Amino acid sequence: MQRVFIEEIAKYDGQEVIIRGWLTGRRSKGKIHFLQLRDGTGFMQATAFKGELPDAEFEEADHLPQESALEVRGLVRADSRAPGGYELSVRGLRVISRPSREYPITPKEHGVDFLMDHRHLYLRHRRAWAVLRVRDELERAIHDFFHARGFVRLDAPILTPNAVEGTTDLFEVDLFDGEKAYLSQSGQLYAEAGAMAFGKVYTFGPTFRAERSKTRRHLLEFWMIEPEVAFMTHEENMQLQEELVVYLVGRVLENRKLELEMLERDTRVLQTTAQGRYPRISYTQAVEMVNQIAQRKPELGLTPLQWGDDFGAPHEAALTAQFDRPIFVEKYPAAIKAFYMQPDPDDPRLVKNADMLAPEGVGEIIGGSERIHDPELLRQKIREHNLPEEVFDWYMDLRLFGTVPHAGFGIGLERTVRWICGIEHIREAIPFPRMYTRMRP
Ligand code: 4AD
Repeated sequence: MQRVFIEEIAKYDGQEVIIRGWLTGRRSKGKIHFLQLRDGTGFMQATAFKGELPDAEFEEADHLPQESALEVRGLVRADSRAPGGYELSVRGLRVISRPSREYPITPKEHGVDFLMDHRHLYLRHRRAWAVLRVRDELERAIHDFFHARGFVRLDAPILTPNAVEGTTDLFEVDLFDGEKAYLSQSGQLYAEAGAMAFGKVYTFGPTFRAERSKTRRHLLEFWMIEPEVAFMTHEENMQLQEELVVYLVGRVLENRKLELEMLERDTRVLQTTAQGRYPRISYTQAVEMVNQIAQRKPELGLTPLQWGDDFGAPHEAALTAQFDRPIFVEKYPAAIKAFYMQPDPDDPRLVKNADMLAPEGVGEIIGGSERIHDPELLRQKIREHNLPEEVFDWYMDLRLFGTVPHAGFGIGLERTVRWICGIEHIREAIPFPRMYTRMRP
């Protein structure tokens, strides 16, 4: 008899099959036991009728604790009342292992901290399962998107000698003989070296920021994807970002329907997102819009912005609430952005950058820009930002030998997962979150 997976159970309608998995719950009604099973690929109900399986096995089914590991033999039956549309009529039951003590996560409500303390077990439950399968789909879709466009994946180092995005949130590592290194804040500078070697590259790796804040959108360790393209302009950069997000959202809508349903995700905004045409507004317009909203809706309690201020999460939320798809906010003041961004020739106070803000109150998921390609200007910016010139020697080489205009961006995987899944807090978007208040399990 064939061992099959729940994911493809529809193919076996009317056949007897074997499923190996775990018991997530059960209830009994006299001569019937309803067993809730999961096998890693999905969840389904198995129904054991007295007389349809050996008596001893029927009896045993009534005493199995949650998370017992089982091999169930049964007949697949289409049943519109069953969650998932199919049920297994049990013909035989073999216990592979029984939990040696009571499983801590029961069907009753548990607090977030409890669930996060038991994250190693909570991964088995529907919600975490659905979110992390969306994450997996996104990871694969990202590779597919870039490979289909001729990008080469370039792995950037994790231990780095320099800061990229400012020095306040660096994790320092002791090397040998008093030497220091930092956990990578961004693979961008290495991606730039790659772009000059391969034309189009992307990195996909862990990224670290020592954020001493408890927010719903910051992790200490997250995964970032950073494409970088030689000769790409600011406009083309936004175009590439839009194509990427259209593709990613489309893939999830197509391949992870069940998971979005399990998460009760209202997909209307995802549908419009998959159509593209993301509005582009300037930083200056965005400041005006936020201030108008602050005036019109005092109940939001928004702090009005001065030109030159950076947006806080509430500002981004108020702004994106005006739109039914992601937006670009472009051309920020140079003073609040990283040292490497290309000034806007029309207004040198500004840089040719853009952030993509996701709708529904989510805010920034992508940051990108055109990079300074002139060696003298770059050297000047490194000095102005008080960065140690000697550690950027190699980066300057990229401008000294065959420098060309180029651009790229970074998309945060967990921010994207959080938005697409419609979950409140970023901690659920990664298997084992690392946060200011959480290092375990
Ligand atoms: O805007 P950021 O800081 O840009 C960079 O690091 C550039 N070097 C990217 C580039 O141009 N190659 O970060 C990019 C994205 C953010 O939009 C956000 O999605 C994510 O990285 N991100 C975080 N995600 C989770 N937790 C944090 N603490 C994050 N910080 C940034």
